[in-house]
Amino acid sequence: MTAASDLHDLAVDIACEAGQLAHRRRSEGVHVAATKTALADIVTDADREVEALIRTRLSAERPDDGFLGEESGAERGTSGITWVVDPIDGTVNYAYGIPSYAVSIAAVEGDPDPSAWTALAGIVFNPSSGELFHATRDAGAWLGAERLAVNAEPSPAGALLATGFGYDPATHAPNLERISRVMPIARDLRRIGAASLDLAFVAAGRLDGYFERGLNPWDHAAGALLVEEAGGRVGGAPHGRPGKRMTVAAGAVLYDAIVAQLGADARDEDG
Ligand code: IPD
Repeated sequence: MTAASDLHDLAVDIACEAGQLAHRRRSEGVHVAATKTALADIVTDADREVEALIRTRLSAERPDDGFLGEESGAERGTSGITWVVDPIDGTVNYAYGIPSYAVSIAAVEGDPDPSAWTALAGIVFNPSSGELFHATRDAGAWLGAERLAVNAEPSPAGALLATGFGYDPATHAPNLERISRVMPIARDLRRIGAASLDLAFVAAGRLDGYFERGLNPWDHAAGALLVEEAGGRVGGAPHGRPGKRMTVAAGAVLYDAIVAQLGADARDEDG
């Protein structure tokens, strides 16, 4: 059996190398290779190249593990460990030159399904800022050498929240309506543009809470472990776990308040 700390150390090493490649390609100029689910949903040459680097290194070091990546799809392994990878989370920021994007790598155990897996290690690396957020199950969440803790309670002014929007224009109106439901408990709202960084910032206490509908497993796999290891709660739907239908992350008190404001959107039974 592999120790979670070994998975963590390998993920840190690969995320740093991948982040440096993404950063170098950004400085050389970004080329949009294709659109995906919607015209606004883009993939750049760098997304593909960075994912290929991560996948090649993982299969060389851990050939029996599975892989689930945003750009190159899924492959089951035989070891019980799956690597869940977003090579560049925040691709639109990346394409526009906004320095809020990250390499997100998680090692998870169990069925490679977010409602069933247990994350063992999670890395979110922003090569523009040089910030490396990393966590190992039962060993805490860290920004570099600094241990992270979520904000236990929002200030009397309300919670500093973040959210995100999917790429499908049909989701914009319901997203705005959802925001209007949550704003009564907020002091303000941020839209950073990279779900992995939203979650890392909740872990670091830079945000009080975060919610988003429509996330894919690679958007939240590493960030969710950061929040949990920083003492926060991460959940949503389906199955009370972070997922496509809803992802919510915050300290325990605020978590319940966000879920109450979201109502049926954060529960399983209505969707
Ligand atoms: C996206 C970002 C964005 C979130 C979207 C994600 P991508 O990931 O995390 O913040 O709102 O739901 O798809 O496409 O940049 O890897």
